[in-house]
Parts: sequence; structure tokens; C-alpha cells
Amino acid sequence: MYEQISSTAHVIAHIRSFTNIPYAGTIALLAHAREETAAFYHRDDFDVDLDGMQKLAPWIEQRFYSLHQRALRQGHNDYVELASGLSPGGILRTEESENRYLEVDLPEMIAQKKKIAEQLEATHPNLGFAALSVLDGAALLKAVQAAYPEMHELTVLNEGLLQYLTHEEKRTVADNVRRLLRFRGGTWVTTDIVYKNELLEGYEQNDKTRRVRQIMFENTGRDMVECAFENEAEAHAFMESAGFFATRYWQKGRFDSPRASHLEHQQVWVMSSR
Ligand SMILES: C[S@@+](CC[C@H](N)C(=O)[O-])C[C@H]1O[C@@H](n2cnc3c(N)ncnc32)[C@H](O)[C@@H]1O
Repeated sequence: MYEQISSTAHVIAHIRSFTNIPYAGTIALLAHAREETAAFYHRDDFDVDLDGMQKLAPWIEQRFYSLHQRALRQGHNDYVELASGLSPGGILRTEESENRYLEVDLPEMIAQKKKIAEQLEATHPNLGFAALSVLDGAALLKAVQAAYPEMHELTVLNEGLLQYLTHEEKRTVADNVRRLLRFRGGTWVTTDIVYKNELLEGYEQNDKTRRVRQIMFENTGRDMVECAFENEAEAHAFMESAGFFATRYWQKGRFDSPRASHLEHQQVWVMSSR
């Protein structure tokens, strides 16, 4: 059932191909992200503007760099990225570095990502892959223990996952991450706390943006507005009740391109187990 969400990884990879994030363009080509994005939006009553999607590139670039900068600051060398999709984060973090990085995603997505890493000759020994659902806490713990038997502290990170999950599912993910962190120590870093009004502002612009919301729902079975938090207070209460100390940062990513200068800082949340 979560497999339906995986198609969104191709859409993000297509948008990311317009950024200057290393490997983004090549990964998009190898994953046929442009064609997959065309198929995702293909409808008789809808014209997708594949090149026009580059206007979303600054947002994706900012989200990526903000997440990774904040993750780096945690000072741990062992990373676990939940729902890593087609992101180049793992490949980049394990290049000429002592870091270890475990990418976690659903089996089909992980198979595709492994193949892409091979094609890029980026199968670094410190880059691992785990094919599982992040809602399966036992499988997640087992995969992390197998990848990192030394019990060092972890940085768990994710972007573009929680937005697709109901509060109940988010709570399961939070419980699974907390279990991991209580066992190992470390922190959880995410850009995935989004609010209903922000999303509605985007979707309610015109008929085309309203149709985009419907198409997302038709393809994934998820309505991102329904899944979003009401506001920051609700998100804080959610994280606290899940057993975390949560801090929200306004993080500026490494976006030096003029096209991104108008963007506000990205919210990045950092959680530690109480
Ligand atoms: C919007 S994509 C984001 C991918 C990547 N983080 C990025 O920013 O490019 C959503 C990702 O969530 C993954 N996903 C959805 N449900 C999942 C689950 N239950 N367990 C693991 N991964 C899941 C999908 O396979 C997909 O790769």
C-alpha cells in the first residue's frame, strides 16, 4: 500500500534535476524521472509542464541542503535516512569520508537505487541499503543493528516522507525512531513538518493547482492537506507526546543561486528522545 507513494520519488528527482545538487541530473536520467513524471501527471484534462517544474527547484534544493547541513551538525558519523528514494544524499555523504550511511526505503525503490549506485560506480563500502517499511519497527531496528553493530550514536534523517502519512502512521514512525534512539542514542532530523494552511495556499491558487492536488491523491491515495499538521503547536505537542524533545530551526540551506534568494529559510526539526 505504501508502494503507491514511491512514484513521488521520481517527481522529486525530476525537479531536483534542475538544481545543482551533485548527481541529481544523472540520477534523474538513470531513473527516467522525466518520463515517470510525465506518466504521473498524464490525464486527458491536464497538461503537465515538465520544464516549468523547474520553478520548484529552489525549494527542493533548499530542503536538501537544509536537511543535510543540520544533520551534519549533529556530529555523529552513522546516518540512517528514512525513505531516501532517489536522493543523492547517501552517495554524497559517503564519498571520501568516514561517515557511514544506511538508506532505507521500500524494496522496489531500494532495488532501483542500488542499481543506480552501481551505474554511478558509487557503491561505497560505507553506503548500505535496507529494503523495508519504516512502519515496521522490528525490521528497522534489525537493519540498523546489522549495519552498525558498534552502537555509536545515530543521526536519523528524512525529507518527503511524513507529509504522506496520517497522524497515526506518523506516530508509528516516531515510535520506531524513538526506539532506535533510546537504544543507540542520537537525534532525528526532518524537514517534514508541514502545515495545512501552507499547502492550501499552494493548492488553492487556481484550477490547475487544485487538479494537481487531486492527481496526487489519485496516484498515492494520500491527501497531503489531510495529512498535514494544523500548526506548529500541534506538531510540537505531537512530538512531545511521542516522547521527544523537539526543536524547530529556521535553516538556510547552501543555496547561493540568485533564483533561490527569495526563499524563506526552511524549517528543520531536530528531535532527541526524552
Ligand atoms: C516524495 S518521495 C521522497 C524521496 C526522497 N526522500 C527525496 O526527497 O527525494 C517519498 C519516498 O517515501 C518512500 N516511502 C513511502 N512509504 C514508505 C514506507 N512505508 N517505508 C519506507 N519508505 C517509504 C517512497 O518509496 C519514496 O521513496
